[in-house]
Amino acid sequence: MAGLDSRSQQLYRRAREVIPGGVNSPVRSYSRYPLFVASAKGSKFKTVDGQEYLDYCMAYGALIDGHAQAEVIDAVEEALEKGSIYGQPTEMEVELAELIASLMPSIQMVRLVNSGTEATMHAIRLARAFSGKKKVLKFEGGFHGSHDSVLVKAGSGATLLGSPSSEGVPSDVAKNTLVSRFNDEKIAGKVIRDHSSELAAVIVEPVLGNIGPVLPKPGFLETLRKITLENEVLLIFDEVITGFRLSIGGAQEYYKIRPDLTILGKVLGGGLPISAFGGRRDVMEKLAPIGPVYQAGTYSGNPVSVSASLAILQSLKKRAGQLYSRLEKMGDVMRRGIGDHLESARITAQVNGVGSMFQLFFTDRPVTDYHSAKSADIRTYEEYFHSLLASRVFVPPSQFETCFLSTAHSEDELDATLDAIGTAVKTLPR
Ligand SMILES: Cc1ncc(COP(=O)(O)O)c(C=O)c1O
Repeated sequence: MAGLDSRSQQLYRRAREVIPGGVNSPVRSYSRYPLFVASAKGSKFKTVDGQEYLDYCMAYGALIDGHAQAEVIDAVEEALEKGSIYGQPTEMEVELAELIASLMPSIQMVRLVNSGTEATMHAIRLARAFSGKKKVLKFEGGFHGSHDSVLVKAGSGATLLGSPSSEGVPSDVAKNTLVSRFNDEKIAGKVIRDHSSELAAVIVEPVLGNIGPVLPKPGFLETLRKITLENEVLLIFDEVITGFRLSIGGAQEYYKIRPDLTILGKVLGGGLPISAFGGRRDVMEKLAPIGPVYQAGTYSGNPVSVSASLAILQSLKKRAGQLYSRLEKMGDVMRRGIGDHLESARITAQVNGVGSMFQLFFTDRPVTDYHSAKSADIRTYEEYFHSLLASRVFVPPSQFETCFLSTAHSEDELDATLDAIGTAVKTLPR
């Protein structure tokens, strides 16, 4: 019955023959088939079937000014005309590094790479080399890309040693990653102290974004900073989501904590692939060619991505005064509006978020860490997702992802979305 299928369904069938699962990143796979996108502008995307959706996924947080932002397009077009890659340094790279350092004072030196995965991988290697220690500590529910050292979950029983969260990750590698509980400063403190002689770094998303948004409890990040300093363990803030999103200086500015190293990505690229890791000069100077830590990349600092990054950061910097408070207000409107709808539909759920990040969790437990997030009912979320989809509102298909606002979302669109959410929650099982 191919004739009755939508173009998305037809493409999905073709894709599954030649692309594992039909998608190039597993989050894009959901029931019954992913929407295939033809174009996007501002707050909306259009599918290959010509239907328009209001987008609250925003490429998993990469877009803060919406799709196809004019300043980024102009910058990329101008850069492309001059050649897409040289394999030589450019003036733009220097400007971008200076700009990043000026926006995030903890970053004295920065290295550009192409993805968040690459950045955390290299930052961890760098931390190991700098400290001469080999273990790292991450938190349950924290996501730092898809390389071996971070595809690790808590081990069984009382052990804190990580075990692989993906086949193909050697347990010999995973055991060098310790896993602790987000928002539990007592356990984290004890792990850091007990393992300080072998612990190179603590890597943390200051706001967890990859199990839905989970905020740090007051004092949690401060304690991490204090105990890592006392024990000569590097503190790495993975700000791939929060960098330039929570504020122009990221979560470190928002929560007033100075990490040793920072990972940037997503918003940094204005929609193009670029990522970065940077921080203390004495640590960053360990990188090749001036130091013994090897790290390299053909496409690193390519002029197309760098031009997009410069365009978005310069533009955000100019507007930062109003932009972040406006996004925070929009986030409040969504969080409050969703809460009101849940209450009037008598649905028990939690609404989490900060700034332009939000999500609801179908659970009666406050969501403060991985375990409370995982208590959410994913079947109910799936119904909610499909109900919104029917209203042409696209939120992340997984309960354990974050919804993102952009400056391109209008007040009317937020109102219409809240109406759609009201309708969706009314039909959910109580
Ligand atoms: C906090 C965090 N770190 C690292 C990554 C990996 O970044 P990338 O997908 O660019 O490899 C992600 C991706 O979602 C992320 O959210």
